Amino acid sequence: MSAAREPIGVIGTGYVGLVTAAGFAELGSEVWCVDIDAEKVARLQRGEVPIYEPGLEELLTRNASRMHFSTDIADALQHARLLFVAVGTPPTYSGDADLSAVHAVVDAIPASGTHAVVMKSTVPCGTGASLRRVFGEQGKSGLAYVSCPEFLKEGSAVKDFMKPDRVVVGDSGDWAGDAVTELYAPLAAPLVRTDIASAEMVKLASNAFLATKISFINEIANVCEETGADVVEVARGMGLDERIGAKFLQAGIGFGGSCFPKDVDALKQLAGNSGYHFQLLTAVIEVNDLQKRRVVGKLQKHLGGLVGKRVALLGLAFKPNTDDMREASSLVLSARLNADGATVSAYDPVAEEQARRLVTGITFARTALEALADADAAVLVTEWPELVELDWSAVASAMRGNVLIDGRNALDPESVRAAGLVYEGIGRR
Ligand SMILES: NC(=O)c1ccc[n+]([C@@H]2O[C@H](COP(=O)([O-])OP(=O)(O)OC[C@H]3O[C@@H](n4cnc5c(N)ncnc54)[C@H](O)[C@@H]3O)[C@@H](O)[C@H]2O)c1
Repeated sequence: MSAAREPIGVIGTGYVGLVTAAGFAELGSEVWCVDIDAEKVARLQRGEVPIYEPGLEELLTRNASRMHFSTDIADALQHARLLFVAVGTPPTYSGDADLSAVHAVVDAIPASGTHAVVMKSTVPCGTGASLRRVFGEQGKSGLAYVSCPEFLKEGSAVKDFMKPDRVVVGDSGDWAGDAVTELYAPLAAPLVRTDIASAEMVKLASNAFLATKISFINEIANVCEETGADVVEVARGMGLDERIGAKFLQAGIGFGGSCFPKDVDALKQLAGNSGYHFQLLTAVIEVNDLQKRRVVGKLQKHLGGLVGKRVALLGLAFKPNTDDMREASSLVLSARLNADGATVSAYDPVAEEQARRLVTGITFARTALEALADADAAVLVTEWPELVELDWSAVASAMRGNVLIDGRNALDPESVRAAGLVYEGIGRR
């Protein structure tokens, strides 16, 4: 790669920031990373990777000489004119996005700055316009603004950076939009260069659409349970229609993670704040909330009440190949099981550390079989390959009872039943 690549600053070194930083370093940029979490920065400076993301450690190691980590934004401001902002935008109590971290970054840029704020964080449509107003109010007229929403998926984030389905750049047609477009050029991805508001809406609308697809197939699954159809067969038949597509048509115990729930909520609130009632998204959210609880009903049906029963949760992360526990379905499930009097044991290949921060009242096991020991029932919560490929005879021997709820429709019912277990999926015969 050419050494003349534009140096960049990346503010916020979480899942998005760190992957973006490592990705651009791989493409040849010097990257100045900044985070307010001093412990995280110290770990990164020591060459440690604070999150689990396949391929990230190799990428960081390979590009270590081009990557710099600091808690002081001045380091990035000094070396780079493009500041990629990848700080968290969690939901507030009202469901709106909390933009305080974004504002903290803007406030830290001096009035003399001639930089560009390149927004990777997911923000409500209209944020770019209001931040540009803030630039004016703070006398920072030299600052440019680019919306460059991120579409990476945790678990395949490095691959998604290197081979994006599309790159979206929303700008005012100034130097900053050109510079960001140029940075992404080596990836040869389809480019959507547009205005700032439209770029912001592409991100929110994409996540809302994917979440809608999931809630839709979950409702079909629930109807399948009433009518004797098998949702796996139904989804296969639907997905082959090119207009529909097979992705995001897997019925299960609902979507979680740091993005879908908050982004769907944020779009619903954004619409509401502007006086529009987004009915479809209200239903998508409600279906998802109920879906997480349906598993408890299935367990009650099989066990005849949960008081004193032992339930093993196989997987805790919101999806495989990540340690991210934010809004994971396992959080709702474990809390509901505890509340109904069950004892919960759980195993996840990598998410235990994160889970311990968020979950109380469950026992963490070192292996799946340890979690399953003496369990009356088990629930597959996260379809990690090692959990999908368990030896079901060994599982049946370890358990006291024989109920297995496949919360992701990821198992072969026949192999599970052949081991003497009672199999129930979501919307499956
Ligand atoms: N995680 C995903 O899969 C994903 C995908 C697309 C978009 N996004 C969006 O990207 C943004 C970041 O998400 P994430 O999952 O990487 O979050 P994260 O919580 O993993 O990382 C955010 C980082 O920002 C740091 N930070 C907070 N305030 C700061 C400040 N003022 N200055 C410097 N650093 C600061 C935090 O310490 C943390 O390390 C969010 O808006 C999210 O919605 C996330």
